[in-house]
Amino acid sequence: MAQTACWTLLTLMTVSSFAPGALSQQTCSDKLLSIKGGHFTLSRDFELGTLLAYKCQDGYYSPVQSRRCLFSGRWKPLPKRGLQCKKVRCPDPSVFKHGNVLPPLGRYYVNDTTTYECFSDYKLYGSATRVCKANGKWSGRTPICSRNTDHCPDPGVPAGARRDGHIFNIGDKVTYRCEDGLMRVGSKERTCKESGDWTGNEPECHFDYTFDTPGEVSEAFGSALKNSLKQADEESPNQQQGKKIHLDKGGNINIFIAIDASDSIDKDHIQKSIDITKNLIEKISYYDVTPNYDIMFFATKVTPVVDIKNYYIGNPKSLADVITDLDKFNFDDNGDDSGTNLGAAFTNILEHMSFIKARKPEQFLNSSHVIIMFTDGESNMGQDPKRPVSQIKDFVYGNKKEQRMEKLDIYMFGLGQDVERELLTEYVTDNAGKHVFLMEDLDQLHQVFDEMIDESSNVGLCGLHRDYSYGHKETASKYRQQQPWLAEISVRHVEGSPSSCLGSLVTPRFILTAAHCFKFGDTSDRITVTIEDGKTKDHEVRIHIPHPDYNILAKKDKGIPAFFDFDVALIELKEDVAISATARPICIPCTKETSGALKLTGADVKCKDHERLLLNNEYEDAYIMSPKREKKFIKIKLGNARDACIEDAKKAKDMTATDAKEIVTENFLCTGGIAPVTDHVACKGDSGGALFTDKSHRTVQVGVVSWGVEDICKGQTLVLSREHTRDYHINLFKVQPFLKKHLGNLTAKYAPLTFLE
Ligand SMILES: *[C@@H]1O[C@H](CO)[C@@H](O)[C@H](O)[C@H]1NC(C)=O
Ligand SMILES: *[C@@H]1O[C@H](CO)[C@@H](O)[C@H](O)[C@H]1NC(C)=O
Ligand SMILES: *[C@@H]1O[C@H](CO)[C@@H](O)[C@H](O)[C@H]1NC(C)=O
Repeated sequence: MAQTACWTLLTLMTVSSFAPGALSQQTCSDKLLSIKGGHFTLSRDFELGTLLAYKCQDGYYSPVQSRRCLFSGRWKPLPKRGLQCKKVRCPDPSVFKHGNVLPPLGRYYVNDTTTYECFSDYKLYGSATRVCKANGKWSGRTPICSRNTDHCPDPGVPAGARRDGHIFNIGDKVTYRCEDGLMRVGSKERTCKESGDWTGNEPECHFDYTFDTPGEVSEAFGSALKNSLKQADEESPNQQQGKKIHLDKGGNINIFIAIDASDSIDKDHIQKSIDITKNLIEKISYYDVTPNYDIMFFATKVTPVVDIKNYYIGNPKSLADVITDLDKFNFDDNGDDSGTNLGAAFTNILEHMSFIKARKPEQFLNSSHVIIMFTDGESNMGQDPKRPVSQIKDFVYGNKKEQRMEKLDIYMFGLGQDVERELLTEYVTDNAGKHVFLMEDLDQLHQVFDEMIDESSNVGLCGLHRDYSYGHKETASKYRQQQPWLAEISVRHVEGSPSSCLGSLVTPRFILTAAHCFKFGDTSDRITVTIEDGKTKDHEVRIHIPHPDYNILAKKDKGIPAFFDFDVALIELKEDVAISATARPICIPCTKETSGALKLTGADVKCKDHERLLLNNEYEDAYIMSPKREKKFIKIKLGNARDACIEDAKKAKDMTATDAKEIVTENFLCTGGIAPVTDHVACKGDSGGALFTDKSHRTVQVGVVSWGVEDICKGQTLVLSREHTRDYHINLFKVQPFLKKHLGNLTAKYAPLTFLE
């Protein structure tokens, strides 16, 4: 596609300032535009420059995807009679080698099912059955029949492709092209590496009406991004081998995000883009990295939002600053927003990289760079983007392309009908994982980042949850996704009525709760743990383990009828909970997993550092949950505020002890009361639940709900505190040996947590 200097409409705009009247009447005709079986939308009514986009029902496509109303007042392409939606086809699967595709058909349409079988001597890898999906892609993975006798695995032939090269030893290359009428996304050439992997990523061949679904993108982008972000972590025992980017010590990661704002006369579009960007950087914050950000909008020219140079002149931005800058950002609609100057966006990134390299040459070499670009139009002005893209690559690779390839990832998101699909593939880097994504519109893109944490690769991350800041519909699993660690525990006691408690999933195998939830004789078969993990609801218990020092009658003769010191217990399940977006462990203090969540990196992070971050101020914001999943807002009282808070323990029923410190030992955290604000109080069913904070968007448990001065709830679940209705919670920093003994057992069969000193 030729890079014209400037697109017709822009020329028009310049003229328009001289003759506004004449032009405001210009529109394109509404004749002959309709489509049988579908409809169309317009970006700016019938005005000049408007973009018309056709839409068919699911499983159908329009042979003409879009029209633009040109300066001449004519549509391009010109409308013709008889436009109708056609049934979506999938690319030809019969390129399959060393086997048969059933049924053999000339063309495959949506919902057609194919099965794959190999000739004898060959083994099938990939999917044995594939269905043609509504977006024109085959479900599952490319089927491959192979004898796997070479160094690298047979890379297969994706549907609709031709492959040259059939020997797969070190240094051997294979090349791909797509059949006529199909376009390629992914690598054109792949080389067998010494490691036994192929360079680049598997190509896909599509028809030009094929879009990626949000689910496909969140999975593919999620795992590619993980490769870009994952810090090398040699010590962790649970790591899978694989290609992770090793960030050298002292290195860091620079993330450049550029958003196309052309054709964005409506503020809504900009606001959505901002929400999407916030959502993306929030998801990135789940990984154990603290990136430097460069965020810009671009149309005819570039408008910066967050400038990466700040990080290199001693003025670094926290994640909260970045979010604030995005919130404050006001896209100045100066009427010059119709061009799509991709070249300028890449040039801007290149300039910022040069600045960093000039300032901190060594650090630049040790850094990884990720460029994420969103575009919804054809690059129609400025220089050809290919030039700055290749300069960026040269700049990062230097003369060591082979070694430094992984230091740079460029991702392109094409939105809507009007993108130059084929060219996007030329801008991205040829690293492992998919780098070009084609999406129908911004709403679909928003779903991508909403869904990204569902991805199983994030299993190891404790405390992940969804926040639902964006208008999201209420769903059955929404509550679970907000507190995926929440467990309900019910116990059928030998005597008396059954009781229930809350608990928190702390590893896939263990639930943390209060010791007082159990009575003498409560054998494991009398205990049920409920966590909806997508497979099972009720989980069987292998054993429950109260803290060995818990003894409710220990101070009966000292005027303390019930003494709750060490009121914690662990429950070991018979089987691991299946981790997903709806069932995932909470973070607990003084573990390496939680250091990641708190963005504390380095080998010398200590338990004390967690405490300093989590329980530092006189009043720390925290939450507890009710069994009805209401979130209760409370402030943990520390220091002097704590002294007053524990004094009220003497007001508990039948309490005759006169020293509050005897009743509420150092092992408790105190909440409730009306100052500095009125807290919620804990009610009966809240016992055993987590007292938690949400630092850096990750949930960290700091206590276990134990007991309170008075139960004022009377069957209600969300009740405000009175002046003296205080609640006491076991402080997890004070029961570390107990937690470590059972959760950090390195010889156990289940995955342990790594505890800090
Ligand atoms: C494909 O099958 C689904 C489910 O049976 C159906 O809803 C859909 O209409 C079918 N699509 C086409 C294009 O036939
Ligand atoms: C960059 O990495 C090299 C070797 O990997 C190291 O010697 C050097 O100190 C690092 N520089 C910075 C600024 O971190
Ligand atoms: C740790 O695991 C081993 C092996 O399963 C077991 O024998 C041992 O009792 C466990 N230790 C604790 C404290 O649970």
